[in-house]
Amino acid sequence: MNIILSGAAGHMGRAVAEAALSQGLTVAAGVDVATAALPFPLYPDFASLPAPGPDTVVVDFSHPGTLEGLLTWARAHRVPAVLATTGYSEAQKALIAESAKELPLFASGNFSLGIALLRRLAREAAQVLGEDFDVEIVEAHHRRKVDAPSGTALMLYDAVSSAYSEGREAVYSRADRRQPRPRNEIGIHSVRGGTVTGEHEVCFLGPQERLTLSHSAENRSLFATGALKAASFLLCRAPGLYDMDDLVSTALR
Ligand SMILES: NC(=O)c1ccc[n+]([C@@H]2O[C@H](COP(=O)([O-])OP(=O)(O)OC[C@H]3O[C@@H](n4cnc5c(N)ncnc54)[C@H](O)[C@@H]3O)[C@@H](O)[C@H]2O)c1
Repeated sequence: MNIILSGAAGHMGRAVAEAALSQGLTVAAGVDVATAALPFPLYPDFASLPAPGPDTVVVDFSHPGTLEGLLTWARAHRVPAVLATTGYSEAQKALIAESAKELPLFASGNFSLGIALLRRLAREAAQVLGEDFDVEIVEAHHRRKVDAPSGTALMLYDAVSSAYSEGREAVYSRADRRQPRPRNEIGIHSVRGGTVTGEHEVCFLGPQERLTLSHSAENRSLFATGALKAASFLLCRAPGLYDMDDLVSTALR
C-alpha cells in the first residue's frame, strides 16, 4: 500500500507516518500548506502531486479546507481516501456522500475501535433504558482543538438519538433559559485545556440509577493505527462511504 499523507506536517500526520514506518508501509508523498523536513516528498496541495502508483490510498488528517482539492484529485486518479479531518460543513458532508458514488471513501470523526464499540453500546443502552433516562454527553480535549463539540461527541449523539422513536434534540448550553430539563434532549458539553488526548462519557441518568459509559484515548497513535487499518480495508472495496461500524462488523464476523 502506498500512502499519500494529507496534513503530513501536523501532529496526526507525523503519528501516521511513524505508524506506517513501524508497519513497513510506504508513505509515497505528503501534502501540507506548512513546510517541514520529512522523509518523503512534501507538496503544498493535491494539484501539485505527481500521478499516483498502484495501491495508493490518501490518508487525511488536516483541515476541512483541504477537502475539495483532495476529492478532485482522488476522483481524477480513482484513488480511495480515508477522511479523518473533523469539522466538515453540511455542504462538505454532501460532497463526500456524492464523491462516494465514484470512490471508496472512509470517513469517521474518530478512528478508535474502542469508540466505535462505545457507539454501539451507547445505542443499545438507550434502547434498553428507554424514555425514563436523560442522556448527557461530556467530552474533553487538548487546548489546540479548534472545533467543539468534538466530531466523536456528535457521532455518539447521533447513535443515542437514533435509538428513540422521535429522536432527541442536541442542546449545547442551558445558560440562556430557566426551566427544568425537558426529556427530549441530549446535552453535549465540551471541556478544553492542557494536553488531553480525548475523553468521552455518555451518561444515562434515570429515576433510581445512573449508568456511565466512558472511553479515554491515551495517545494519538491510536487514531493513526485505526486510520491505517481503514486504509487497508478500503483497498479492495467498491465505491461507497464506509465508517468504523464497517470495521467493527468485519471483526464480529
Ligand atoms: N478522526 C480522528 O480519529 C481524529 C483524531 C485526531 C485528530 N483528528 C482531526 O485531524 C485534523 C488534524 O489534527 P492535528 O492534531 O494533526 O492538527 P495539526 O494542526 O497538528 O495538523 C494539521 C495539519 O494540516 C495542515 N493544513 C491545514 N490546512 C491545510 C490545507 N488547506 N491543505 C493542506 N494542509 C493543511 C496544517 O499545516 C497542519 O500541518 C483535525 O481536524 C483533528 O480534529 C481526527
